Amino acid sequence: MYEQNVNNINFDVEQLETASGQSLYYIAWSIFRQHGFFEQFNIPEPIFLRWLKKVQHGYRGTNPYHNAVHASDVTHSMHFFVTRARIWSVLTPEEKLASIIAPIIHDYMHPGVNNAFLITTRDALTMRYNDLSVLENFHCASVLEFTQEEQYNLFVNMTVDQRKLVREMVISMVLATDMAAHFEWIGKFKNKMSGSGFNFENKADRKIMLNMAIKCADVNNPTKPLEQSKRWTELIMEEFFRQGDIERSRGIPISMFMNRETTDIPKCQIGFIDFIAQPLFDAWYSFMQEDIQILMDNIKGNKNYWKNKSEKVSFGPIKPTPSSTESLSNTAKASALAIPPGSNIQTSVSTQQITNTKSSDSLAR
Ligand code: CMP
Repeated sequence: MYEQNVNNINFDVEQLETASGQSLYYIAWSIFRQHGFFEQFNIPEPIFLRWLKKVQHGYRGTNPYHNAVHASDVTHSMHFFVTRARIWSVLTPEEKLASIIAPIIHDYMHPGVNNAFLITTRDALTMRYNDLSVLENFHCASVLEFTQEEQYNLFVNMTVDQRKLVREMVISMVLATDMAAHFEWIGKFKNKMSGSGFNFENKADRKIMLNMAIKCADVNNPTKPLEQSKRWTELIMEEFFRQGDIERSRGIPISMFMNRETTDIPKCQIGFIDFIAQPLFDAWYSFMQEDIQILMDNIKGNKNYWKNKSEKVSFGPIKPTPSSTESLSNTAKASALAIPPGSNIQTSVSTQQITNTKSSDSLAR
């Protein structure tokens, strides 16, 4: 029953989290079994489960948004995308495996503040990764590093070539979740769609398609049914506000959309949809077509919801002037891309354990 649900685009991972306390574990395990990855790649199941627990425990339960439930959500959404026939039929077995590993690990040990903050505050991670996709490099490298250890090595029985292929694709997908390259990825994807078209015989083209898929899975929250979408919005805004609180407490300027006292959430959401999510999903829709029609309908409905809220707050409809549209555009982009000022912050990441022990093994059977 659970395995049927996980294939449903409307599956609510938060409900599974409430029931089990470890949605990532159950979703990932279920997907691996469903596609026969254990047999196909000769992955010892106990090693995989140990690896998966370690990944899950590495997510900070104290982050409102960037925690293991977000990883479950992105894994679920990515799985839905890649298993549509137009994608699944062109992927190699190694790419299928990589397309599930990447979302599982994509925000591992996220500290709850963004790249811009780490760069401005000259966090140690920025020294290690030369300011380039700092968090994304950190998430990916950390997992791939411990995966080398015997007890976590799910690649143990793969050939050297298989490992290389899986690694290459996983790294590419996790790095693609860096919003600094958001518009570049949309551009690459649209060029393929409007130019000579995708040639899925080419690995490079399959890579562009998979990178686009994980980007959409990562920012899928405005495409969810309204109630789910609102819950994810609350969580991301709270995480933004906590970063803003740290900035305030240090007497440094508070980043765009991160001031809990002044941020207009409906406007922030309209901006995020208009300038980040909608262009991304419009491009994705040009490829996925009816497979994601429901998501396109949801995003439209959700935008209307925020517009109505915004108009009520303003006691009248907002007529955007060119300059207000421009400032909304800039602030929306800033939400994902801006470099907030600040000084140093403790970002050493503890392996915050998810200790909820409610058992729901039956869900995975
Ligand atoms: P991150 O998960 O690193 O990459 C995608 C980013 O999009 C995310 O961080 C947030 O900065 C931003 N984001 C995702 N959802 C929303 C939302 N509902 N409102 C505003 N920003 C969002």
